[in-house]
Amino acid sequence: MPKVVHTVAELHKILLPLWRKGESVGFVPTMGALHEGHVSLMRLSRTGGNAMTVVSVFVNPLQFAPGEDYDEYPRDLQGDVKVCRDAGVDVVFAPSVAEMYPRGFVTWADQDKLTEKLCGGNRPGHFRGVLTVVLKLFNIVRPTIAYFGQKDYQQSVIIQRMVTDLNLDLKVQVCPIVREPDGLAMSSRNVYLGPKHRTEALVLHQALERARELVAGGEKSVKKLHGEVKRIIGTAKSAKIDYVAIVHPETLEDVNDVSGRTVIAVAVRFGKTRLIDNVIVE
Ligand code: PAJ
Repeated sequence: MPKVVHTVAELHKILLPLWRKGESVGFVPTMGALHEGHVSLMRLSRTGGNAMTVVSVFVNPLQFAPGEDYDEYPRDLQGDVKVCRDAGVDVVFAPSVAEMYPRGFVTWADQDKLTEKLCGGNRPGHFRGVLTVVLKLFNIVRPTIAYFGQKDYQQSVIIQRMVTDLNLDLKVQVCPIVREPDGLAMSSRNVYLGPKHRTEALVLHQALERARELVAGGEKSVKKLHGEVKRIIGTAKSAKIDYVAIVHPETLEDVNDVSGRTVIAVAVRFGKTRLIDNVIVE
């Protein structure tokens, strides 16, 4: 069983000997409701030569806007601890909100430009909340390597940017998207989908796969790719597109054509559930 701790002090007791010896600590930050996507990150930490793997489970209130699903977000610490056990995780850090944000908390991490694009447009303040909690978690865990999923592409970019910009002393490894057998990207939010929306949600992967095929076949036109992705998503009756973006992998700026490495990212609502997915094309 992994050690489960709820306070920074308890966690530091465990980590202090490793820090002293300069041993490698692998870190997987999560909001819990763990699935195979999270497990893939834990496995990479386990096999990546780290002396210890720490997983945090914390539903971060700062990254949910008013009216978003903070209250409904699935929480199951016991289940999560079992998943961590099976994945060979050493420590689960599951702090309370008061532990992370004691009274008087007013200091944030934020970024220009990158946070306003893609999901930032529809979720104002979201990435400021993500950056703040991730910076705090990095300071608490002091990992050697932190593992993030390509699933949340923009998140992985802004975090790598923060690490560079603020000279944070750790490595960030971004790991491939893990999917259900039918192609839907795994997400803690998939449990919100009823059967109809669950079936319809397959259009995300289908649309991105089609775009990938077109690019592989030589298509460079952003307009054509955009049109095709939107058309395929539109075949699902309840799909409401937040954005279809074809962007530079680091600046997240719209590209004029697909010449180098490019990211195609989508966010689509099915009823109240908002899903994201992306593909990197060359
Ligand atoms: P959460 O959504 O729980 O995701 C935790 C990590 O798992 C993220 O790095 C995410 O990209 C990765 N992940 C989720 N689904 C995945 C999938 N299908 N395949 C591969 N990786 C996947 O992202 C967050 O939590 C939070 O914003 C957090 C970084 C913990 C800050 O609160």
